[in-house]
Amino acid sequence: MLILGLESSCDETAASVVEDGWRVLSNAIASQHALHEEYGGVVPEIASRAHVEHLMPTLNKALDDAGVTLSDIDAIAVGNRPGLIGALLVGVSAAKALAWSLNKPLVGIDHVEAHLHAALLNDPEAAAGRDLPALGLVVSGGHTALYLVQHDEQRVPRLTRLGRTIDDAVGEAYDKAAAMLGLEHPGGPKIDALAARGDEHAHEFPIARLSPGSLDFSFSGLKTALLYAVRGTPSRDGKFEREASQLTESQKHDLAASFQRAAARALILKVERALAQLDQANQPIRAILVGGGVSANSRLRSAISELGERCGLAVRLPAMAYCMDNAAMIAGLAHARLRAGETDNLTLRAIPTTGS
Ligand code: KG4
Ligand code: ZN
Repeated sequence: MLILGLESSCDETAASVVEDGWRVLSNAIASQHALHEEYGGVVPEIASRAHVEHLMPTLNKALDDAGVTLSDIDAIAVGNRPGLIGALLVGVSAAKALAWSLNKPLVGIDHVEAHLHAALLNDPEAAAGRDLPALGLVVSGGHTALYLVQHDEQRVPRLTRLGRTIDDAVGEAYDKAAAMLGLEHPGGPKIDALAARGDEHAHEFPIARLSPGSLDFSFSGLKTALLYAVRGTPSRDGKFEREASQLTESQKHDLAASFQRAAARALILKVERALAQLDQANQPIRAILVGGGVSANSRLRSAISELGERCGLAVRLPAMAYCMDNAAMIAGLAHARLRAGETDNLTLRAIPTTGS
């Protein structure tokens, strides 16, 4: 079964053809990063307009790369929640038009849930649910959350949220940290690159534990600690001691490495807590699934792989191409829904807030 997926929730316009929920035949992505760079973040109105421009060329590229035409497609899937409302509407409207004109089923997909399917792509048994029940960690620019991922009776994956960030998402913290160091948006990959050259023990940044049993995350303390380390403690009138431009390259490397260590440790701490709590509740877990833009982070990838080895659990990390926003994860997850007869009709709405 061939599913065409569309994704337009934030600043990537993406289209993909996926066979049977796992085999990725194409993964076309038009990134808008350059358009938003000068504003230091995603500008919703610019994003919506760029999606309108990029959608058809991206869709055609996905079909060409897969060597198929629209008549070969069995169903249309679209990320319809959560995200920027104007951006989501572009993908949702296009998906409805395609489903209606081709007379094919339409499936609306939760973008956050899809990030956890990204780690299962190109592996038929994993995509069919071999590793469930699993602990899912979503780490992106908009979300940071832990889930128990289980199959329902129809073998559709269902998520139960165990914890979430109470302030910034980890990717957002990365982007703000990068801005403090004078790096361009999106700064996560740039901090990751600088960190490779620094001493991660140069600064002891705080790791939010919250209350003893809490599975929630918080990154605001880490962000403030970095700000003070970069610019010095502010005086009573709010003036800082120095500018980021006064830092040497090696100081920047050390700050990036220490920030990255604290961010990864904050995530790992809550994963460990969640595993302990699930164990106590006699909930078996077969694997740890990770997804979202920050799952590309080198420090997090090595730390979570180590944790998996320590606990004897398989760790599923997305291939680099599926860490960032993409439509393969949307088309892949849609397969289980479709098989269970869970389709949507033309009243499908774009929903900006998260349901999971
Ligand atoms: O999943 P994604 O593409 O979009 C959202 O759904 O939010 O995630 C984007 C986020 C950005 O904050 C970006 O800085 C971060 O992922 N990111 C990284 C890395 N690559 C992307 N953060 C840390 N290290 C990386 N290597
Ligand atoms: Zn995302």
